[in-house]
Amino acid sequence: MKFNNIIVKKNDALAQITINRPKKLNALNKETISELSDAFQDLEENSKIKVIILTGSGEKAFVAGADIAEFANFSVEEGSSLAQKGHEILFDLVENLSTPVIAAVNGFALGGGLELAMACHFRIASDNAKMGLPEVSLGVIPGYGGTQRLPQLVGKGKAMEMIMTATMISANEAKSYGLVNYVTTQEELLPLAEKLAGKIMQNSSVAISAAIKAVNANFKDGVNGFDREIEAFGVSFGTEDFKEGTTAFLEKRKAKFPGN
Ligand code: COA
Repeated sequence: MKFNNIIVKKNDALAQITINRPKKLNALNKETISELSDAFQDLEENSKIKVIILTGSGEKAFVAGADIAEFANFSVEEGSSLAQKGHEILFDLVENLSTPVIAAVNGFALGGGLELAMACHFRIASDNAKMGLPEVSLGVIPGYGGTQRLPQLVGKGKAMEMIMTATMISANEAKSYGLVNYVTTQEELLPLAEKLAGKIMQNSSVAISAAIKAVNANFKDGVNGFDREIEAFGVSFGTEDFKEGTTAFLEKRKAKFPGN
């Protein structure tokens, strides 16, 4: 696949997607959103890929938001359709991928950038990163899931404050809020993401996919997460990975999961 705005690298079971519009602080224009969607779908279909790391190019930004220049003259209908399509093709897609996605937040993650990081399964950040949802300072509201995923991650009160004040928080504040799991230097950010990816890869990818679905079920309307967990737990007993995991434990050896 050929892309203009993103770079996709594959190294055995690890894939890295880098959003690559550094002159525009990696802002998400329609083309970038569409390319990200294609890349994530392609990697999800590739059974060799066990973890995806998402980051931004340059030292300044992960993603500084949706591309303001692109939507500045949109009508009500165009605004609605922008958000609707974005949810469908990228933000909900990423959240519901079976392949774990780690956001390595290497600088500004604002508006759509923070929303994209929040759609990933978890986040780590470099110490220069700054995060916020500044949309109300532009006269709009977060449109790519920010009003929903930020309260899930940091609680309603902190989310309300961040959204209403439109201010940025530091990486360390984000860690204390539970928005990112680790803060490290810029140099150590990708090595840390790779180290975490390595730990994930040692485990059953089938069980991890089922666990992602069960965790996400808690946040879906009309779905009982406990029921989903019970169902997926039962299904696990029929997998080759379960046979291998339990046999390896009993034989006191490291499991070699077949991935089915
Ligand atoms: N959409 C479109 N272009 C953006 C952008 C965005 N969200 N964020 C940054 N850019 C562009 C700037 O317009 C500028 O382009 P130019 O060089 O052609 O003028 C370039 O990226 C560099 O940004 P600049 O503002 O000069 O960098 P800075 O270091 O002074 O400020 C920020 C960095 C992140 C504080 C500032 O760019 C900003 O506030 N961006 C918008 C953040 C935002 O509101 N996001 C939510 C959108 S819904």
